Amino acid sequence: MGRLTGKVAIVTGAAGGQGAYEAELFAKEGAKVVATDVQIDLLKRVVKDINDGEGQAISLKHDVASEEDWQTVVRSTVENYGRVDILINNAGIYITNKVEGTTLDEWNKTMSINATGVYLGMKYVIPEMLDSGSGSIVNISSIDSIIGSGNSAAYAASKGAVRSLTKNAAFSYAENKIRVNSVHPGVIITPMNEHQLASEATKTFAQKNTPLPYLGKPEDVAYGVLYLASDESKFVTGTELVIDGGLLTL
Ligand SMILES: NC(=O)c1ccc[n+]([C@@H]2O[C@H](COP(=O)([O-])OP(=O)(O)OC[C@H]3O[C@@H](n4cnc5c(N)ncnc54)[C@H](O)[C@@H]3O)[C@@H](O)[C@H]2O)c1
Repeated sequence: MGRLTGKVAIVTGAAGGQGAYEAELFAKEGAKVVATDVQIDLLKRVVKDINDGEGQAISLKHDVASEEDWQTVVRSTVENYGRVDILINNAGIYITNKVEGTTLDEWNKTMSINATGVYLGMKYVIPEMLDSGSGSIVNISSIDSIIGSGNSAAYAASKGAVRSLTKNAAFSYAENKIRVNSVHPGVIITPMNEHQLASEATKTFAQKNTPLPYLGKPEDVAYGVLYLASDESKFVTGTELVIDGGLLTL
């Protein structure tokens, strides 16, 4: 028996990085996975690997900033698997710029994917969870929502919105047994930042600020997300799980 046997999970941004690892891990733990992303070719490879193994998954092209796409994703999930037990709002983009260097387009794009995408996901999944009587939502924020990290104004603001919206929804739906938690990764080596971390200077700087003598990998976040998604965390809601190698303790 897996840790998610019998559950149906939607994982956004599942074409690579943390989302791909989470989709694979969830399938190994017995969930039926609906993996979504804008990068459909990469996503199909992730889903093929799952189905070639012992897992069960489908892929859906999905822009999390689109209300219509969310309606389609939730409808397809219910048509294929009958219900939605778990939502992992993982898709995100990162734009590096201080406040005065951030264009309005960059600001709006970041907010629409990182923050509006999370709101829309919850808006369309919660009615299904209310119907079935329970659910677990995990919203991927960042340590940038907790500390000022300098160079990513729009990103930090969007992740701050995810952090507070998570607590609001956790409070609103606790009586319905729908749990909502946020996860706050530190520096995790994924396609999102591999170009930055390719520079020795940046890597050394990131490592200098991380007490554990290594940087994070997708699995380091995925096991925390798995715990929050599963019934093992049935008394946990509105919490923020920081996974950062100790960076925030500095
Ligand atoms: N890597 C880090 O250091 C780090 C740190 C803190 C938080 N995070 C957060 O973790 C999450 C996962 O990021 P990652 O590190 O795996 O990066 P990643 O770039 O590998 O993955 C992000 C995925 O989101 C998808 N995506 C982007 N825009 C989308 C859209 N409009 N609709 C649907 N999918 C879209 C991308 O195609 C990609 O597959 C993100 O929310 C990110 O902000 C990452």
